Amino acid sequence: MKVAPSILSADFGHLARDVEEICNSGCDLVHVDVMDGHFVPNLTIGPVVVSAVAKAATKPLDIHLMVENNTFFVELFAPLKPEYISFHIEEEKHPHRLIQKIRSYGIKPAIVLNPHTPPESVEFLLKDLDMVLLMSVNPGFGGQSFIDSVLPKAKRLDAMRKQMNPECLIEVDGGVSDKNIVALKDAGVDVVVAGSYVFKHTNRKEAIESLQI
Ligand code: DX5
Ligand code: ZN
Repeated sequence: MKVAPSILSADFGHLARDVEEICNSGCDLVHVDVMDGHFVPNLTIGPVVVSAVAKAATKPLDIHLMVENNTFFVELFAPLKPEYISFHIEEEKHPHRLIQKIRSYGIKPAIVLNPHTPPESVEFLLKDLDMVLLMSVNPGFGGQSFIDSVLPKAKRLDAMRKQMNPECLIEVDGGVSDKNIVALKDAGVDVVVAGSYVFKHTNRKEAIESLQI
């Protein structure tokens, strides 16, 4: 299991220090939550702060867009060369076009599904995706409790991707901890995002390693 700590739960007064710490603690990706105050009722960070994160990070960035105007934000963040940019299917009229645009920058495209959105919504996009991100909380805030209907959903998506694109990863975001990591692994999940579990742990390296099962 790969682990992408979400910097939403980091200390923003010491952001570079916290990013360096998780990278030195063996995380696989650095998860960056971009919220615009419209698609979700919260507002986070833009390219100025994310470029500081990119500078401090020795692991690739995983940018999760929670915004209304996906194309505008993709163009804004593409110069920072993240490994992944993911956007919500609920907010995109032309997901296939946006996948192609993200890939044209040499960035891996990913689609995010809210808790109510079925895995079948990406059926005809799967072969063009590098990752599907399943939300296990309602997007907008860290520290919420895990919605366990993501487990049967991940299993269904796992069966679909095995048939259509075995290279496509499954990522889960929200309420992830040592309490649900085994169930996530059993459901076929490859990457977990963990914010409060990693950053509030007394030993962040131990927290990351406890999820890398
Ligand atoms: C929620 C964000 C998550 C959040 C996860 O909208 O997408 O990445 O930071 O935080 P935890 O792990 O605390 O649920
Ligand atoms: Zn996220």
